Amino acid sequence: MNSLKNKVAVITGGNSGIGYATAKALSKKGAKVIITGRRKEAIETAAAALQVNGLLADQSNLSDIEKLADQVRTQFGKVDILLINAGITKFAPIELMTEDVFDEIMNVNFKGAYFTLSKFIPILNDNASVVFLSSTSATISPQSASVYAASKSAINAVMKIAALELASRNIRVNAVSPGPVATEIMNKIGLDSNLEKQLISSIPLLRMGKANEVADMITYLSGYSAAFITGSNFLLDGGQSI
Ligand SMILES: NC(=O)c1ccc[n+]([C@@H]2O[C@H](COP(=O)([O-])OP(=O)(O)OC[C@H]3O[C@@H](n4cnc5c(N)ncnc54)[C@H](OP(=O)(O)O)[C@@H]3O)[C@@H](O)[C@H]2O)c1
Repeated sequence: MNSLKNKVAVITGGNSGIGYATAKALSKKGAKVIITGRRKEAIETAAAALQVNGLLADQSNLSDIEKLADQVRTQFGKVDILLINAGITKFAPIELMTEDVFDEIMNVNFKGAYFTLSKFIPILNDNASVVFLSSTSATISPQSASVYAASKSAINAVMKIAALELASRNIRVNAVSPGPVATEIMNKIGLDSNLEKQLISSIPLLRMGKANEVADMITYLSGYSAAFITGSNFLLDGGQSI
């Protein structure tokens, strides 16, 4: 019953971190996995290592999203599992936020995620599972993360409305909200050992999360055992948001 054999799973931003770990987990359960990425070499390397399919698409670009949905439909048919994961993080106090950085974050994390769902709805199978990668930032309001937190709060709002709009097709839509997880995103924001210590001290379980722990939750939400779960947001944060 827990098998995902022959289910078609699309994971945006799958060349590293949580997307990569989830590709591995879904593949192990028998799903036919497609990962997407915006860098050709990175996506090809990851797809080869995972022995899954890799497609090039910039999730912040609407025509790329449309092309991706077309390509997936032509090559793999309808989709059973959609993980809208591609995301970036940048920090600045509100006073110093620039329009460019604001647009960059929102274009990937919100607009890109929104239109990924929108353009994939026609090719989702009835009974499909959609999971958005949100963040505890939407709950705990970290300083200097105003735009990132807003992008994830926006996703949480859309997730619930999508759950209502798609319920008649028995398509379930949920979000997972990790706290700090040790992935490449941490290097991208320049997390040094001092900042890491500070971060860890704010987590009651005194460690960062692991990508495979988030992947396990997504795998659960994607399967039959979660058939009655929709419109929910799951925090995986070692207690940070308490
Ligand atoms: N790690 C955490 O602490 C944490 C906590 C809460 C939420 N999250 C969320 O979890 C998701 C995955 O992050 P992660 O931690 O696994 O970090 P990651 O390793 O940096 O993964 C993010 C992935 O998204 C891809 N991506 C970014 N922009 C893209 C675009 N425009 N088009 C296509 N792909 C794009 C990245 O590709 P490139 O390699 O080309 O950048 C990368 O493969 C994100 O939505 C993030 O906000 C992470």
